[in-house]
Amino acid sequence: MNINGKSHRTIWLHPKNNLVFQIIDQRHLPHRFVIADITTAKEGARAIEEMWVRGAPLIGATAGYSMYLAALEASKSGDFEAYMEDAAKMLLATRPTAINLHWAIKRQQKAIEGVENIEDKVRIALQTAKDICEEDVVISENIGNHGLELIEAISELKSGEVVNILTHCNAGWLATVDWGTATAPIYKAHDKGIKVHVWVDETRPRNQGARITAWELGHHGVPHTVIVDNVGGHLMQHGMVDMCIVGTDRTTYTGDVANKIGTYLKALAANDNGIPFYVALPSTTIDWEISDGLMIPIEERDASEVTYIQGLHEQEIKQVLLTPDSSPAANYAFDVTLARLVTGLITEKGVCEASEKGIRDLFDSK
Ligand code: MRU
Repeated sequence: MNINGKSHRTIWLHPKNNLVFQIIDQRHLPHRFVIADITTAKEGARAIEEMWVRGAPLIGATAGYSMYLAALEASKSGDFEAYMEDAAKMLLATRPTAINLHWAIKRQQKAIEGVENIEDKVRIALQTAKDICEEDVVISENIGNHGLELIEAISELKSGEVVNILTHCNAGWLATVDWGTATAPIYKAHDKGIKVHVWVDETRPRNQGARITAWELGHHGVPHTVIVDNVGGHLMQHGMVDMCIVGTDRTTYTGDVANKIGTYLKALAANDNGIPFYVALPSTTIDWEISDGLMIPIEERDASEVTYIQGLHEQEIKQVLLTPDSSPAANYAFDVTLARLVTGLITEKGVCEASEKGIRDLFDSK
């Protein structure tokens, strides 16, 4: 998508150095646009854990490139297989909820297993990392095309009046390689001339909505308004939300959805007010082994993300203490919205019911 009129992705191989990949370092958004070089698998793991990159599909893409760097390192280590196994373990330990992390690591492991020559393994790992990214772009764009139909239908029902869409966290292009999941249909609709307006939940504690979703929508010229996390229910009661579209970090094959903390409360409010609640996802986010969403591991992050807040003060990005020094804080990063609260899943293959049947009908090869 565009930043100041220039097309960007969130991750790419360094154009002049095949041994390095580059990312947009999202810790600095929206105040600074910083590109970071990732030169080792360990740095890749750090970028995921400390959320220089975030969002399930982008975590997967970063893990893909980090496995390539691990293969480069392993080729000089004397024991290729052991090095790769340790690298996979290190990457897997970074963030427990987004299943794309597991998916991308497994995909790399499968791609190189059985390949005899170490140089070939490294070459294949690079190609696989690139493929993961290219495929993610196509998947996200297709999510956009399918979700567009839902927005178009609401726009027609409203005789072309503005369609108000509420979203939570950042399931935008900055959470993927390009386009986004929840935002892809919004960009498609906006580009087609459909009037849309987005209510952007700020998404405490890390404020991915206020910092990142607002920034990317603004750069694409999509009308939006940032709200604090507790406003959604009020807006819904007053007819100010036509639909919700959120992303997901892991979706069970039965249609339960783990997404950024607070998503569940929005789904409850939408349900109570008869507002459609859609979840946009690439099939790489489906967990084919867990049937009950409440079994999904929920990441707990450092309490300092709750007790402090980050912002720009006198041109410097600062952390400010919010709570009494001595008060403990809890930081659950995700919650689960059960399938019965989800109107539909917007996938790269079409929109389906949030149920095992709905998912298997679209992705029957699994
Ligand atoms: O903790 P994050 O920022 O990695 O979490 C990301 C989310 O929860 C997104 O909202 C999302 O829907 C998944 S990524 C498309």
